[in-house]
Amino acid sequence: MTIKRKTVLDILQLKKSGEKITVLTSYDYPFARLVDAAGIDIILVGDSVGSVVSGYDTTLPVTMDEMIYHTKAVVRGSEQALIVADMPFLSYQIDQRDARLNAGRLIKEGGAQAVKLEGGINVAATIRTIVDMDIPVMGHIGLTPQSIHRMGGYKVQGREEAQACQLLADARAVEEAGAFAMVLEGIPAGLAAQVTASVAIPTIGIGAGIDCDGQVLVIHDILGLCEKYAPKFVKKYADVSGIIKDGIGEYIHEVKSGLFPSDEQSFK
Ligand code: KIV
Repeated sequence: MTIKRKTVLDILQLKKSGEKITVLTSYDYPFARLVDAAGIDIILVGDSVGSVVSGYDTTLPVTMDEMIYHTKAVVRGSEQALIVADMPFLSYQIDQRDARLNAGRLIKEGGAQAVKLEGGINVAATIRTIVDMDIPVMGHIGLTPQSIHRMGGYKVQGREEAQACQLLADARAVEEAGAFAMVLEGIPAGLAAQVTASVAIPTIGIGAGIDCDGQVLVIHDILGLCEKYAPKFVKKYADVSGIIKDGIGEYIHEVKSGLFPSDEQSFK
């Protein structure tokens, strides 16, 4: 029996019914299988792949071809979650033709059901042009990692009044442009609550407090797979690095000491 994949309408229904929306990233087939089987609502193929999988310092080097590769693997590994693919840096900032083409590639070649892009008023026309192609768009405002050089680092946004007003205006612009949901990243919890109350579409928080309609985190962060940096908003739900290190250590020990392979792993 094939399980029907969630759609953007199901996500909107979750907000309507008051049920929190769960989102986790995945970048490959094995993780997508695990995350999907656990019953997650949305899998985000984030451009965070650049940091947690490729080892870059920022998300900026991630390319369209890399996003398509990872999206295809995640789609193959999942059957019930809505798949949202990130539009990487330079795939939508140059002009609207590029933005339409690249959003279309994530759907047509990658197999995603929706795309995500960063920005507020400055990308509203871009969101509109992609939505007009019948491609659902998730917005992303606040701490937008592709703007790291403007922000001067991964800093909480919207603490000052002018910034908070700008953020509320950005949220309205993203909604009016036709986005079906938006990520609120790295903003004070009170401001996230204000944004959530001021728009009709679901807000998905990351470092944005409890009042968002849903939460998103990076899978490597919650499983303790990313040892170099843990932001304050991350909660580690498991220490998978420890388990992996123990397993590898045991393998090395058994090979070195002649315990592996035994008869059980050998052919007669
Ligand atoms: O790239 C990503 O994983 C993201 C989430 C952290 C929201 O954009």
